Amino acid sequence: MGKETKVHLVTGAAGFIGYYLSKKLLDQGKIVIGIDNLNDYYDIKLKEKRLNLLEPYNNFIFIKLDLADKEQIFNLFKTYQPIVVIHLAAQGGVRYSAENPDVYIQSNINGFYNILEACRHYPVDHLIYASSSSVYGANKKVPFEETDFVDNPVSLYASTKKTNELMAHTYSYLYDIPATGLRFFTVYGPMGRPDMAYFGFTNKFFSNEPIQIYNNGDFDNDLYRDFTYIDDIVEGIERLISHKPTGEVKHEVYNIGNNQPEKLMTFIETLEKCMSKSLGKEMVFEKQFEPIKPGDVPATYASTDKLQAAIDFKPQTSIEDGLQQFTDWYVEYYGVKR
Ligand SMILES: NC(=O)c1ccc[n+]([C@@H]2O[C@H](COP(=O)([O-])OP(=O)(O)OC[C@H]3O[C@@H](n4cnc5c(N)ncnc54)[C@H](O)[C@@H]3O)[C@@H](O)[C@H]2O)c1
Repeated sequence: MGKETKVHLVTGAAGFIGYYLSKKLLDQGKIVIGIDNLNDYYDIKLKEKRLNLLEPYNNFIFIKLDLADKEQIFNLFKTYQPIVVIHLAAQGGVRYSAENPDVYIQSNINGFYNILEACRHYPVDHLIYASSSSVYGANKKVPFEETDFVDNPVSLYASTKKTNELMAHTYSYLYDIPATGLRFFTVYGPMGRPDMAYFGFTNKFFSNEPIQIYNNGDFDNDLYRDFTYIDDIVEGIERLISHKPTGEVKHEVYNIGNNQPEKLMTFIETLEKCMSKSLGKEMVFEKQFEPIKPGDVPATYASTDKLQAAIDFKPQTSIEDGLQQFTDWYVEYYGVKR
């Protein structure tokens, strides 16, 4: 077999999903160029830790840069001529988009536009980009299907992701760029994002603070979330790389979720059980129930039929298995007392 020379560009390589995807591609011998601006939206040490784990690979090159810098993005494409682009860098978080909207426009709209323009001028085989389950807004019909109406986003974050889908469609139509958008459903796992509930709850437990659960304390009408384990997300992306859209307009959008929504309280109780096991002693959160926050949605539930038909795969990992991986990692990484 010849030496791999095709370059895969992973944006957001120091991020949660970008790290695991880069690692998988590097393990397969692919050349990976990773970019990230290493912003401090959450603990930068975690981003540095992920990068430290990628840096020993001699088929990995990391370049610190901001998506908003069009000239640098163009230079990057000109120099490395990536054949596959997996665009994961973005400003995440639903609630933070009410606090700091500017950064969402800069990274998720201008940044995405720069990636599309670069793919237009330095043609690629396949552009895969992160969308989000948040595009479904407060839709009531479940499971959420890719053909559902998604013109009612309830946060600026969701609007930027829906906008990305529209922009990708147009660029694909106009410039024949094969592009695939992925609507991820609440991704979790070891070395995950501290801004997400499961991680934030765990941090609070170890700093002896109560956790706030935004479900009105209404367990009959609890929030439902389709939680997706990181390894399943990476497997889905990896399989889709070689599954380029072939229609008249070469643009497709897929859900990647577990197709099995869990009540928020079940998820929290499972987290307690897993952490108790990791610690070797009982762990129970002190819970405070609060009203639902604006921008939060009552349920997310992915239909995975389209994904399965395309790549013969759907996420399978149970929250028991996935959260155990998270709590084992957390106890080890932070050296919390057993
Ligand atoms: N994790 C989830 O549950 C989830 C759900 C739906 C969608 N997504 C989307 O998946 C993608 C990856 O998410 P993640 O969980 O790995 O998030 P993450 O925040 O861990 O990773 C994103 C990375 O992008 C980098 N970045 C942000 N703005 C940038 C910019 N302007 N220039 C360069 N780098 C920049 C950040 O420093 C970060 O390391 C994002 O697009 C996110 O919106 C994630």
